[in-house]
Amino acid sequence: MHNQNRKEEKTWGASGAVSTFHTTMSGKSNKPLLEVKNLKTYFHSDSGTVKAVDDVSFFVNEGETLGIVGESGCGKSISSMSILRLVETPPGKYEGGEILFEGQDMLTISDDEMRKVRGNKISFIFQEPMTSLNPIFKIGDQLSETMILHRGMSKKEAWEESIRLLDLVRIPNPERVVGEYPFALSGGMRQRAMIAMSLACEPKLLIADEPTTALDVTIQAQVLDLMNDLKKKINASIIFITHDLGVIAEMSDRVMVMYAGKVVETASVQDIFLNPSHPYTIGLINSKPDMSTSSDRLHVIPGGVPDLSQKPSGCPFHPRCDKVTDKCTKEFPPETAISDQHKVFCWACQGKQEEGSKWQKH
Ligand SMILES: Nc1ncnc2c1ncn2[C@@H]1O[C@H](COP(=O)(O)OP(=O)(O)O)[C@@H](O)[C@H]1O
Ligand code: SF4
Ligand SMILES: [Mg+2]
Repeated sequence: MHNQNRKEEKTWGASGAVSTFHTTMSGKSNKPLLEVKNLKTYFHSDSGTVKAVDDVSFFVNEGETLGIVGESGCGKSISSMSILRLVETPPGKYEGGEILFEGQDMLTISDDEMRKVRGNKISFIFQEPMTSLNPIFKIGDQLSETMILHRGMSKKEAWEESIRLLDLVRIPNPERVVGEYPFALSGGMRQRAMIAMSLACEPKLLIADEPTTALDVTIQAQVLDLMNDLKKKINASIIFITHDLGVIAEMSDRVMVMYAGKVVETASVQDIFLNPSHPYTIGLINSKPDMSTSSDRLHVIPGGVPDLSQKPSGCPFHPRCDKVTDKCTKEFPPETAISDQHKVFCWACQGKQEEGSKWQKH
């Protein structure tokens, strides 16, 4: 177990609640645990091809939390499900790219090898806990099964470890809850039990896909607090997916913004909030709810996420963008590196490298 000392950088109002974003001071390395290169996951149907993940590249370093943010329908879930080949095929199809985890390409390993990775080295926390909890088995049996299988524990050891895990995720009375069935727990407690399940195998990578979206605001805050606490205690990398920038601020070291199946900007959490560059990122930040005004939203980005079977040409954000030029409608922009860690895909951001490097010198 290692320790991560985090420094509070800035307070940020999110969903009406005041939250904070943190910088990990240690515990992260610059060594990638996962590298996704030019991933293409498409859906083919009679009405056309949906490029849900359209040439997407990203990485997650050891011990770091990558936040993935974007409106609903932008390809966040399909990108993360592709890592474990969880996309149903057909209608889905992995059309290209590489997903390198510990030197193996997740897209080409055998089904047997993939089963060893799933729920062992990489685990998934879903939005709806009942997708992972089996209603007919006691919580303790479900937790134990993983530990007997993946960690070679005896039944007794696994039962005791289950109690410890339930305690770790702050479930009151873990000795009692370990013998309960999932339906006996409230939604918030079920979500905690699922987090315990995802930790049972001691994964190297934890993928949490909108794990708090279905919960009410108070329980959501408690679960996020718990995950931040766990982040300090477990030696895992995390991919945290959400459409809520407040949650991103609270959870991430680095942020990747997705729009219409494309990565449009990646940067440290500080740069995303203090120096956002892509018009979509700026729009998302400006449309955060602000409690200091009577209106719900400051500015809402006009229009909506397109139907991805009819993705706009060039930069798919162009119909909603106030900086659009003719070029934007014709060609997807190349990557602009504003700084080492800050990358953006936008024609209007070309030349921003200058600003970025000047800014870095100070
Ligand atoms: N089974 C499917 N068949 C066809 N299209 C799908 C299917 N699942 C997802 N999609 C499409 O893929 C795109 C990305 O979806 P998703 O990754 O779930 O978005 P997000 O998680 O960002 O809300 C959406 O446009 C969605 O309509
Ligand atoms: S490439 Fe053009 S349309 Fe796309 S975000 Fe940049 S300015 Fe807007
Ligand atoms: Mg999703």
